Amino acid sequence: MKPLLALNWKLQKGPAEALSWSKSLLEKLPSNLAADLAIMSPTISLSAVSGVLLGSKVAFGAQDVSAQGKGAFTGETAAAWLLELGCKFAVIGHSERREYHGETDFIANAKVKATQAAGLTPILCVGEKLEVREAGNAESFTVGQLEVALNGVEVNADDSLVIAYEPIWAIGTGKTATPDDAENMGNAIRAFLDGKYGAASAHIRILYGGSVKPDNIKALCARSNVDGALVGGASLELDSVLGMLNALA
Ligand code: PGA
Repeated sequence: MKPLLALNWKLQKGPAEALSWSKSLLEKLPSNLAADLAIMSPTISLSAVSGVLLGSKVAFGAQDVSAQGKGAFTGETAAAWLLELGCKFAVIGHSERREYHGETDFIANAKVKATQAAGLTPILCVGEKLEVREAGNAESFTVGQLEVALNGVEVNADDSLVIAYEPIWAIGTGKTATPDDAENMGNAIRAFLDGKYGAASAHIRILYGGSVKPDNIKALCARSNVDGALVGGASLELDSVLGMLNALA
């Protein structure tokens, strides 16, 4: 599989801006992409993004999804409806959802299952806070998150599942994990996935996220078990996205 460059727009780009940005992206995109490219748009902007990108080589998805299919769940968005818009991905368990919305690994587990059941690819985010890393527990903590969030989750084909390792201390702080940090954690996650899924682990890409930008993406993604990146801040400007694609080429 090619590396996956997943753009996490967070609470940026409403429908009008998402529409014009997506159009400009298609105009400027090189014909040969060194990575699979996907935009994680605000839910409200997904129709606009879909109107431009559906059928193109740029995939798209949501930043969160409901664990429920239907019913009295005010404010939620069902995975099946994301699929209806042409989404391929849904980000699940991002540290900002955990921090500001009380999402737990158990909730992430239910969301991963609902997402897969609808035919979408979950991008499950895990990663430790600074104090956990400083105490030397980064790997056991992160693998522990996976144990719960992947309980009963099956993997049988490419893109059944994507994991994003995002150390919380590196998100939006300008502090990137070193390529060694990213690789060490990638290896620990891979060892867990190999143990759980055997040969099917090869279907799962492990992304790194946290202050990724054009001048560090190449060194990070050159490492084993760093199969792409989930990018926040550097995903907002077109030039920076083109710069990251160029760096991966
Ligand atoms: P950042 O965000 O690239 O701005 O650090 C990454 C993320 O939160 O997915």
